[in-house]
This record gives sequence, structure tokens and C-alpha cells, in this order.
Amino acid sequence: MAYNLLKGKKGIIFGALNEMSIAWKVAERAHEEGATFTLTNTPVSIRLGTIDQLAKSTGSTVIPADATKFEDLSALIQQSMEILGGKVDFILHSIGMSPNVRKGRPYDDLDYAYYMQTMDISAFSFHKLLQAARKLDAINEWGSVVALSYIAAQRTLFRYNDMADAKAALESIARSFGYIYGRDRKIRVNTVSQSPTLTTAGSGVKGIDGLMDFTERMSPLGNATADECALYCITLFSDLTRKITMQNLFNDGGFSSMGMSARAMHVYKQSLDDCEDC
Ligand SMILES: NC(=O)c1ccc[n+]([C@@H]2O[C@H](COP(=O)([O-])OP(=O)(O)OC[C@H]3O[C@@H](n4cnc5c(N)ncnc54)[C@H](O)[C@@H]3O)[C@@H](O)[C@H]2O)c1
Repeated sequence: MAYNLLKGKKGIIFGALNEMSIAWKVAERAHEEGATFTLTNTPVSIRLGTIDQLAKSTGSTVIPADATKFEDLSALIQQSMEILGGKVDFILHSIGMSPNVRKGRPYDDLDYAYYMQTMDISAFSFHKLLQAARKLDAINEWGSVVALSYIAAQRTLFRYNDMADAKAALESIARSFGYIYGRDRKIRVNTVSQSPTLTTAGSGVKGIDGLMDFTERMSPLGNATADECALYCITLFSDLTRKITMQNLFNDGGFSSMGMSARAMHVYKQSLDDCEDC
């Protein structure tokens, strides 16, 4: 059911690779709620993914940009303002990738060139985006910027690896820029910390099935799906959440406040002493 929450609002959505992507679901919901927006991803992701289908179904233009390149981001923002006919009201940063995770390098044997790439793609791209948008004065007053994070920014989760460091930096950037944007332009900057979700990026984390089963058992409301994440992002882009900024907001069914649940304890008891990596 749509509520016209984003009627007349304009935006930029990063990170829709295929229909599993969280950004894909956000784009579909934003379209239903009356927004117009541009879609963006790297040239290679545009070629390998299915973003053109999403562009067709939402009446959007796809603009290629590598979010690690400041020039690409500036050009993307300028083009978006031309296409949409003015400044934007919301931006979704839904970008993450770790070459160390992909290549199976553990945290105590990181490749440092890969580590820099992890940080650049997954965290510093957010700073570059916010800096480029500010220099171009591209976001309307009471606009809203959201980036997607994960609880590994605060707590160590086995195998999340250097992405934990990237998410910690991402959340810090949201706070630091949130102050500047809020003070000067009344613009919100937040991160949404989402449950583990089966997407292309999510599947890159080794053992995601076990992790998702654990978090499902631990969360009183169960894991939040990509669709549920999209709905939350829509509320943050809407005018209903104007005074929420500089926050890391959990969309995780309650997982972040749990210590142990009966459902998790049940499985834990059955498998005591049955662990190779502990
Ligand atoms: N899937 C999960 O379990 C989970 C949980 C919490 C947070 N998140 C976060 O949600 C966000 C979206 O991930 P997803 O799960 O939808 O997976 P996804 O693989 O569908 O999306 C990741 C996107 O990042 C894009 N990307 C990679 N490098 C880029 C670059 N240099 N420039 C621009 N875009 C680039 C990819 O092309 C892809 O579209 C990420 O920040 C991810 O860390 C995911």
C-alpha cells in the first residue's frame, strides 16, 4: 500500500545491482510513493546486473559512476539535477565491497591494497558523495541522506572481516557530516543498520546462512528483509522524520538488543563442543 510519502521528491539511488539488492527495493518503494530519481552504479555492475529493467519499471535514468571517484560523483550529481529539474531531496548510499572477503583473506592476513579498496568503496565513497553534493549545493533543505550499515561496526562478528572497519568509518562519517549538513542546511544524514540479507554482497560473507539462522533465532521479530529495509528508508526520506539525524538506526528485528534467546539457546545446547574454528 502506498501513502504518497515521497510525492514530488527527487533523489539519487546508488547500488541497485539486481532484484535482490536492497537499493532495488528502495527504488521500487520510492517510485510507488511518488518520487522521481536517478539510478547509479559502476559501469561494470550496470553491464553485469539488471539495473536497466529497474530503470524501465520506475521511469528512471541510469547514470554510471564509480563512487570512489570524486569527479564521477560530481558529474552524476550535476546530471541528476539536470534530469530531475533541480536539487534533490534524498540520496541512498547502498554500496559495499571487500576484495579481502572476496579473496578469502582473513583479518590477521589482510592484503593492504585490498584493505584500502574496501575502505574506499564501502566508507570513503560516502564522504566523497557528501562532499561533492555539498560543494554543488545539491540537496534541498530538509533533505535526507541514508547509508546502509551493519552491526559489525560496533560488535565483532566472525568472518565480517575488514568490512567491520569500513562500516565503523561509514557510521562516523554520517555523524560528522550530519552535524555540518544539519547546522547549515537542515539536512539529515543517518545510517540504517540492517539484518543480514541474502543479496549479492551478503552472499559474499562466508557462512551467511549460519549467521542468518543465528540472527533469526536471536531476534524477537526475526530478521528484517530487504523489502522491510526499503520501507524504513522511505520513512527516513519522508517529511515524517525531519528531526532524526546523525543516528545509526537498527532495522534488525531487535537483534542488537538481545544477549541470548530461547530459540538460539536450544540450538547452542545441541551443538556444544562441536566447533572446528572456536
Ligand atoms: N546484505 C546484507 O547482509 C547487508 C546487511 C547490512 C548492510 N548491508 C549493506 O547494504 C548495502 C547494499 O548491499 P546489498 O546487500 O544490497 O548488496 P548488493 O551487492 O546488491 O549491493 C552492493 C552494491 O555496491 C555497488 N558497488 C560496489 N562498488 C562500487 C563502486 N565503486 N561505486 C558504486 N557502487 C559500487 C555494487 O555494484 C552493488 O550494486 C551495502 O552497503 C551493504 O554493506 C548489507
